Amino acid sequence: MAAQQTTYNYKVVRQFAIMTVVWGIVGMLVGVVIAAQLVWPALNFDVPWLTYGRLRPLHTNAVIFAFGGCALFATSYYVVQRTCHVRLFSDGLAAFTFWGWQAVIVLAAITLPLGITTTKEYAELEWPIDILITIVWVVYAIVFFGTVMRRKIQHIYVANWFFAAFILAVAMLHVVNSAALPASLFKSYSVYAGVQDAMVQWWYGHNAVGFFLTAGFLGIMYYFVPKQANRPIYSYRLSVVHFWALTFTYIWAGPHHLHYTALPDWAQSLGMVFSLILLAPSWGGMINGIMTLSGAWEKLRTDPILKFLIVSISFYGMATFEGPMMSIKTVNSLSHYTDWTIGHVHAGALGWVALISIGAMYYLIPRLYGQTLHSVKLAETHFWISCLGILLYATSMWVSGITQGLMWRAVNQDGTLTYSFLESVQAMAPFYVIRLIGGALFLAGMLLMAFNLAKTIQAGSAVEAPIPKPA
Ligand code: HEM
Ligand code: HEM
Repeated sequence: MAAQQTTYNYKVVRQFAIMTVVWGIVGMLVGVVIAAQLVWPALNFDVPWLTYGRLRPLHTNAVIFAFGGCALFATSYYVVQRTCHVRLFSDGLAAFTFWGWQAVIVLAAITLPLGITTTKEYAELEWPIDILITIVWVVYAIVFFGTVMRRKIQHIYVANWFFAAFILAVAMLHVVNSAALPASLFKSYSVYAGVQDAMVQWWYGHNAVGFFLTAGFLGIMYYFVPKQANRPIYSYRLSVVHFWALTFTYIWAGPHHLHYTALPDWAQSLGMVFSLILLAPSWGGMINGIMTLSGAWEKLRTDPILKFLIVSISFYGMATFEGPMMSIKTVNSLSHYTDWTIGHVHAGALGWVALISIGAMYYLIPRLYGQTLHSVKLAETHFWISCLGILLYATSMWVSGITQGLMWRAVNQDGTLTYSFLESVQAMAPFYVIRLIGGALFLAGMLLMAFNLAKTIQAGSAVEAPIPKPA
């Protein structure tokens, strides 16, 4: 017990870190399968639970909540302890969040292929699982905020603000959007109807991007980039402005997912304006992350972890430039329903979310096992094949998306459509093959990482890190 007061709880960090790699591989493997199904539709073998419509939500849930979620749990638990100089608030509750979250993931992996779904995108899980998520999340908040409250360092480091915003906002979004009336154990109906349901759903959906896929990962950026670069954050003042501007602006931008729908026009325009404003805090954050390296750029040449981190921030900048452009109604009238959206999603998901998580795992796992990384060369190879994979994925989807959009809106002089829908589907074929190759390369990189980290773990042993004594 006494030893527990003087060391950090690394056990739960290790567990979440390992599962980040495992679920990353599973989720991306399903991504590669559905990418292959778009090339060869017969790949569902006429088995209902292997059909595209069921595997697609399995992919999104696995990569966002299993892979991304475990990365956020691992890093937030590590960072909050190290920056507050105190052990996690409760080992038992932290262990509960680990097992509870894994149970949610397993239940999702069983129910989604069976076709049990609420049909709300990124909130497909049925009500009993939603209740479990709520319980795990409340316990997560208790562990995180309890640790912050018991801190030995007066100042709360900026990474913790982003983790805190992520935890609070996700709790609010999940509870409001999942409100439903159960009809049976496996079926419920949203308490919202019609366009209100759509608006609540996309208020949730966009803020899942803003707080799950962005704020939490910015928490990772603010800790791991200065650590790995061995430099202070470029501007602490900018990080304060970044935090408040981002959290205030994100929450209003959801209606850009509902342009040209039954949603009142003023609400669509409001969503567009806030999305355009969002460019400023997003780029402020990106500049703060990248400029942290000023004076130490040469480290990029030899350090694959920094490469992952810095390139991820560049993709963050790219996705947050593209997003505001796509939110402009006239641009959205071309991009909506097309692969352009898929290209944007994966520039953010693979380029930002996955690369920064990978960088953080390469940083964390050797430290958690008291061992240097098994092979820096392999990590370097991983970096380059991931970049190639993302480029193939994103560029093929941009080209196919714009082609789709232009083909759908092309009209002849007499007002008839120039192309049938089938012709636009046929035009996509080569791009779907290129996306499949890109995705497969990215997955291959993940397998290299798993091997490299497994070797590192094998050579090391679980570390008990002492908490520094107060000065
Ligand atoms: C300033 C920041 C951003 C803005 C304003 C923005 C804006 C947009 C817009 C306008 C769409 C298309 C909506 C539609 O036509 O249906 C979209 C889709 C999407 N974006 Fe972004 N984006 C931003 C950043 C990001 C980032 C960093 C990520 C990923 C990590 C991301 C993930 C997504 C996802 C997953 C969708 C697809 C949603 C769906 O229809 O299922 N976005 N975004
Ligand atoms: C090997 C890597 C990956 C491959 C091959 C892949 C493939 C795919 C495919 C084929 C789709 C369906 C596209 C469509 O319906 O037209 C998709 C959707 C999606 N993927 Fe991935 N993916 C990968 C990694 C990721 C990662 C790491 C994330 C998130 C962190 C992610 C998030 C999403 C999201 C949010 C959607 C839904 C987009 C929307 O509805 O607009 N993917 N993915």
